[in-house]
Amino acid sequence: MRPRAISDRIDSVGAVDWDRRLFDALIPLPDGTSYNAYVVKGSEKTALIDAVDPPFTDLLLRNLQAAGKLDFVVANHAEQDHAGAVSAVLGRHPKATLLCTPKCKDLLIDELHLAPERVRTVADGEKVALGDRTLEFLHLPWVHWPETMVTWLPEERTLFTCDLFGSHLATNDLYAADEARVYEAAKRYYAEIMMPFGSLIRGHLDKLSRYDVKLILTSHGPGYRRPGFILDAYRDWTSDAVKNTVVLPYVSMHGSTKVMADALADSLASRGVSVERFDLPTADLGRLAMALVDAATLVLGTPAVLVGPHPAAVNAAFLANALRPKLRFASVFGSFGWGNKIVETLSGLMKNLKVEMLPPVLVKGLPRADDIRKIEELAEAVASRHRAAGILSGEPHVTQEA
Ligand code: FEO
Repeated sequence: MRPRAISDRIDSVGAVDWDRRLFDALIPLPDGTSYNAYVVKGSEKTALIDAVDPPFTDLLLRNLQAAGKLDFVVANHAEQDHAGAVSAVLGRHPKATLLCTPKCKDLLIDELHLAPERVRTVADGEKVALGDRTLEFLHLPWVHWPETMVTWLPEERTLFTCDLFGSHLATNDLYAADEARVYEAAKRYYAEIMMPFGSLIRGHLDKLSRYDVKLILTSHGPGYRRPGFILDAYRDWTSDAVKNTVVLPYVSMHGSTKVMADALADSLASRGVSVERFDLPTADLGRLAMALVDAATLVLGTPAVLVGPHPAAVNAAFLANALRPKLRFASVFGSFGWGNKIVETLSGLMKNLKVEMLPPVLVKGLPRADDIRKIEELAEAVASRHRAAGILSGEPHVTQEA
């Protein structure tokens, strides 16, 4: 991607990674991603805000040629998909100073072996003048890592947020044009990256509400010319409100646990509870994470494998525990042959979840009529909790993620 003008003072100089399909060797990227970087031109000085993933270093250096001499390189975040190219940029611009938080400086020295004398740390609220334009730095820790900040350009009413409000979406659009598509991508991104820090981010949203933002430019995915669109979405996702939904991930080896999953989905739907079910061995774990953003309940299904839960269920439990969704209720079901420690193992893996555990249903072999009655009882327990929480209303639906 060549440089593109955002305004007469801001150029987009980053890269679109159309073909990347995995991030951190973990997160699926069905729509690719981008590493957005921006040049801000004041009357006296010029700054680069964020850089790119190392494979795109040459493209960034090419895109920076038109900007001339850089005085500052701003690292809002130390992760390599943004900071990985800063050493090369500083090498090409020997008079430039890197601006970042103190924690970010430590991380960059450890990760990139950056020369400390090239770095100047900035305090929360500190301003750096570029002449007739000003950069103001706001420390917002944990908008992915502990060292993160965002950069405010008051004269353009533009906020550069790096990971915050981002989306893994490869697109030519500088701004969110198809808001429904961007909403899905941004929610997936929130689920995978930001959800563990939801309560902190809620406080950050209050801090940002003091700024009259006209334009949000993130470092992944399109920017927002209608900031309220993404700010409202984040307020919703980080709120305490949960929806009348059960997330139902399951794995079945010989069909018995699937019989229970089918019965549970049907029983919940008949009681007005929506279900998002995931056949774990083939499920997109990003969609599972998205479903956890606002669901009230998680019910995990697994057969016994060598007495414990199936590894696919272990993975799902570990993921849910790490992402810390705002679930209120949880339970477990499954089938075993001769003995199991499914509940003990899964409960031990989900200690971060502040949930009421509903009675599990574990059955020997293929479920019998009495076992299905217990599944009905579990569905009723879920429905009664949702009713008491005031969320059991509207038309239920069952979705299947294969
Ligand atoms: Fe896009 Fe946390 O890096």
